[in-house]
Amino acid sequence: MRQQSKLGLGGHTFIEQLGNDPEASFEEQCAIVSACLDQGIRLIDTTYYQERVALGKVLTELQRREEVQIMAWNFFKQPGKENDLVKPTPYEPHHIDIMLEELRTDYIDILVIHAQDDTEKQRRELELAKQWIAEGKVNKAAIGMLKLEHLQQLPDNHPVSYVLAPYNAFNQGALETFRKAKEMGLEVVALSPFIRGWKLDEIGEDKAKAAEILLRWVTGHELVDFVIVSMRKSDWVKANVEAVQSGPLDQEEEQKLNSWIERLA
Ligand SMILES: NC(=O)c1ccc[n+]([C@@H]2O[C@H](COP(=O)([O-])OP(=O)(O)OC[C@H]3O[C@@H](n4cnc5c(N)ncnc54)[C@H](OP(=O)(O)O)[C@@H]3O)[C@@H](O)[C@H]2O)c1
Repeated sequence: MRQQSKLGLGGHTFIEQLGNDPEASFEEQCAIVSACLDQGIRLIDTTYYQERVALGKVLTELQRREEVQIMAWNFFKQPGKENDLVKPTPYEPHHIDIMLEELRTDYIDILVIHAQDDTEKQRRELELAKQWIAEGKVNKAAIGMLKLEHLQQLPDNHPVSYVLAPYNAFNQGALETFRKAKEMGLEVVALSPFIRGWKLDEIGEDKAKAAEILLRWVTGHELVDFVIVSMRKSDWVKANVEAVQSGPLDQEEEQKLNSWIERLA
């Protein structure tokens, strides 16, 4: 099998909101996931429940569940808001079975807990994650959208193996958190290399080259283990995998990137 890529596929790929292009058709979604798996992208993130439902359908069609590492967050369907992108809800005991049903699987590889400031509530979610790991419904746990203090407040026997936060050339606010996570032996997952793709338009130059530079900046970062990017077109899978393979930026590319940051940050 191909070596696993540092790239992961973002679940916003499967929904219309938060992107520039229209929602990808079911056939295109299948083609995107197939292209990812064929090129070594195994990690697939799902944030909103709509993304879990879509990925479950795609993996059933492709019959490739075992090749994927599914990452899933605590955003749930709410009555009367079925089409909305809702806020996260702290995990409760019944949530795991709902998630498994939506994903059409019997385990989640990486369960993401959205960080919250109420330490007692966060502790209860960590306990639930531990219980689900013991039951075989979850393999590993993660904390997402966290700040440094969330790491500092983790209890000694926490189950967390990964941290996730937006991190890209224009938004380096998670750097200290990622440093601390690495010291604690955790894996670091950077989200949104293109800030939902909007930054590529703002830069206003050759979009493919701008995407390549932004992606290589973050995948070349020593602290970053995985980078989650949404791709609504299967063609972008190859382009992004090739960008990562071409390694860190050279001096000229660094200068170009710095000029964009000066102009737009
Ligand atoms: N940022 C957060 O707060 C957050 C929170 C939780 C989870 N996440 C995870 O992070 C994932 C990625 O974040 P994101 O979707 O916000 O932003 P992103 O990955 O930075 O940007 C994705 C957009 O970039 C465009 N794109 C991708 N490859 C391209 C290429 N080679 N050339 C040109 N354009 C390209 C596509 O735009 P169009 O298709 O729209 O044209 C795509 O939708 C999400 O799907 C989610 O799984 C993010």
